[in-house]
Amino acid sequence: MKNWKVRYSYLPQQFKKTDQLWNKLKRFVPTGDFTLGKELSIFEKNFSKLIGTRYAVGVNSGTDALKLILKSIGVKSGDEVITAANTFVATVGAINEVGAKIVFVDCDDSFCINVDLIEKKITRKTKAIVPVHFTGCVCEMDKLIKISKKYKIPIIEDACQSILGKYKNKISGSMGVAGAFSFHPLKNINVWSDAGMIVTNNKDLFKKVLLLRNHGLKNRDEIELLGYNSRMDTFQAVVGNWVLPKAKSIASQRIKNAKFLDKELSKLSEIRIPDRPKLVKHVFHLYIVFAKKRDQLLKYCLRKGIEAKIHYPTPIYLQKPFKKMGYKKGRFPRADFHAKNMISFPCDQHLNRKQLNYIISTVKSYYKN
Ligand SMILES: Cc1ncc(COP(=O)(O)O)c(C=O)c1O
Repeated sequence: MKNWKVRYSYLPQQFKKTDQLWNKLKRFVPTGDFTLGKELSIFEKNFSKLIGTRYAVGVNSGTDALKLILKSIGVKSGDEVITAANTFVATVGAINEVGAKIVFVDCDDSFCINVDLIEKKITRKTKAIVPVHFTGCVCEMDKLIKISKKYKIPIIEDACQSILGKYKNKISGSMGVAGAFSFHPLKNINVWSDAGMIVTNNKDLFKKVLLLRNHGLKNRDEIELLGYNSRMDTFQAVVGNWVLPKAKSIASQRIKNAKFLDKELSKLSEIRIPDRPKLVKHVFHLYIVFAKKRDQLLKYCLRKGIEAKIHYPTPIYLQKPFKKMGYKKGRFPRADFHAKNMISFPCDQHLNRKQLNYIISTVKSYYKN
């Protein structure tokens, strides 16, 4: 294994001091309360409190959170769903799973969907808009909510990367008809496997997703509708209940790290800091900048022991499954620009100042030479 100076994954540190958690798990296992158990109810309650929604429903992934929300509002084959051209595959995978057509809209340099381009993509078949709070930045929700009201099209927030992100004073995930979160091990709030959460203030939607996640079972013997097995694992809820109290400090440490990197890296003419919208509290699930000679910089950083990455080198719309849609490179110019020029540096809550300085000095030394 390479001897990294700054690793991308912070999981070894995140779960280093887990005595308390193991004690909890030791007490939990003999209860046998593994399926939709008490710990999950506690996690749901605490998560909805954190986000400020009336309801929260634990499901088995962020992808399923999106899928179940789409299903619950009746999106189906023949419908269209608008989303961002630069998102992670899971967003479009969920739309595809319910049979709807994916309608891409380009992003802007905050990495969020360019809200000004949405209206011309709306047709009679548009049944939902799925903004993605990509990188942990939050989309321009005021404008989006106006569009949603004008056309009566619900917003489903893909908040998988933006736990505790805010637009004005509203927390991401709480502004649309429902929000989807992921607790995948590499997310800001993480468990030891896949898990996700749906949040909403809508009682009907809440009731529907409760059914959908558990085979449509109204009770042990009555099936209300055909659903899925998409329950969040109660064992993971125990882990979630241990991580969740740290949510605010995780977000603030990431913000602090990102601000420091922004301040120092912006001194280099070869680096451009992406737009950091003033009305947004960006929680930096990903820390990305635009860099000249990006590919060479990436190789240099890797050689120097910094596990930098690209999110993502090929925009989703140019990936193989979309070939049949006939998209050509250039169709979504900002997504293309990002793929070519972005570089992601570690920014997690466990990095120390020495490591942040090492990222900065390495980037500086690359351009100096
Ligand atoms: C933007 C976005 N949407 C959806 C997901 C899906 O989450 P999960 O991996 O929990 O299915 C992810 C995470 O991987 C994501 O980054």
